[in-house]
Amino acid sequence: MVSGKEAGEGIRALILGIYQLGGARLDKEKLRGAIKDERFPRSAAYDPEWMIKNEMGPSAVWLMEFLTEAVELKPGMKVLDMGCGKAISSIFLAREFGVQVWATDLWISASDNLERIQEAGVEDRVFPIHAEAHALPYARDFFDAIVSADAYHYFGTSELYLHYFIRFLKPGGQIGIVVPGLKKEFSDGVPEKLEPYWESEFFTFHSPAWWKELWNRSGLLDVEVADDMPDGWEVWLKWENLARESGLWSREGDVGLLEADKGEYLGFTRVVGRRR
Ligand SMILES: C[S@@+](CC[C@H](N)C(=O)[O-])C[C@H]1O[C@@H](n2cnc3c(N)ncnc32)[C@H](O)[C@@H]1O
Repeated sequence: MVSGKEAGEGIRALILGIYQLGGARLDKEKLRGAIKDERFPRSAAYDPEWMIKNEMGPSAVWLMEFLTEAVELKPGMKVLDMGCGKAISSIFLAREFGVQVWATDLWISASDNLERIQEAGVEDRVFPIHAEAHALPYARDFFDAIVSADAYHYFGTSELYLHYFIRFLKPGGQIGIVVPGLKKEFSDGVPEKLEPYWESEFFTFHSPAWWKELWNRSGLLDVEVADDMPDGWEVWLKWENLARESGLWSREGDVGLLEADKGEYLGFTRVVGRRR
C-alpha cells in the first residue's frame, strides 16, 4: 500500500514528466517574467536558471534578501553565511552589499563552491569553507555579522548551540536567521490535514515566538526582530511551482504540504539578535 505522501509524490513526478515530455517547460524568458516578484527587487537581477539549478530549498536568494532587510551590512564587513549550501546567498551578499563572506557549509565541498564563486567573479570577497556547525575553524569575535538562510534549524534548535556559535560574532554585531517555520506552534500535535505530508525533521520548524524565547533565554543577545515573512507560504509555493515548471529541479518539493496548509501554519520565520 502506498501512503498518501508517496501517492502525492508519484502524481507530482508524473506531472513533471508530462511537462518535460510535452515541452511545456518554461523557457528562460518566461521563467524570468514569472519569477519576478516585487517583494524581492534585488533578486530580480539574478539569473533564475542559476538560482533554481543551485537551490537546495526554497530560494536562498529570496530568503537572504528578506533577511538582509533586518541586518545592517556595510561594505568591507566580515560576514559568516552559515549553511550556505551552494553559496548563491553568499554571492548575493558580496554583490549587493560589498561585504566579505565566509561561505560555510557541510554537505557541499569548498572546491565545488569555489567554482561557482569564481564563475560569479567574486572570489576576492567570498571564501568557501567546508565545516561542521559545531566545529568551526574561526577565531572568537571575528565576524561583524552572521547570517543563515534555510539552515540554522538543522543545528541550532538546542539551548546550547547559541552559546557555542555566538563566540565568532563581535560584541555588538548582529546574527540573523531565516528558516522554514510555523506561524504558531501546534497546540495538539501535527494537524490532521498536514499528516500525509509531514516528515519528522519538520519538527525543527518553529514560530517566531519560539525562536525569540530560545534566544532570549540564552542571555547572550538582544532579540531585535522575530517575525515571519508576509504571505511566506505563497512565496514558498510560488518558488516550488516555478522550479518544477522550469524542468531544472533536482529535489522533491513541498507543494502537497503547502497546499494542504494554505498558510495556516507554514511560512518563513526570521529572527535577528544583537550580541551583548
Ligand atoms: C536546505 S540546505 C540549504 C542550503 C542553502 N542555505 C540554501 O538555501 O540553498 C541546508 C544546509 O545546511 C547545511 N547544514 C546542515 N547541517 C549542518 C551542520 N551540522 N553543519 C554545517 N552545515 C550544515 C547543509 O550543508 C545544507 O547545505
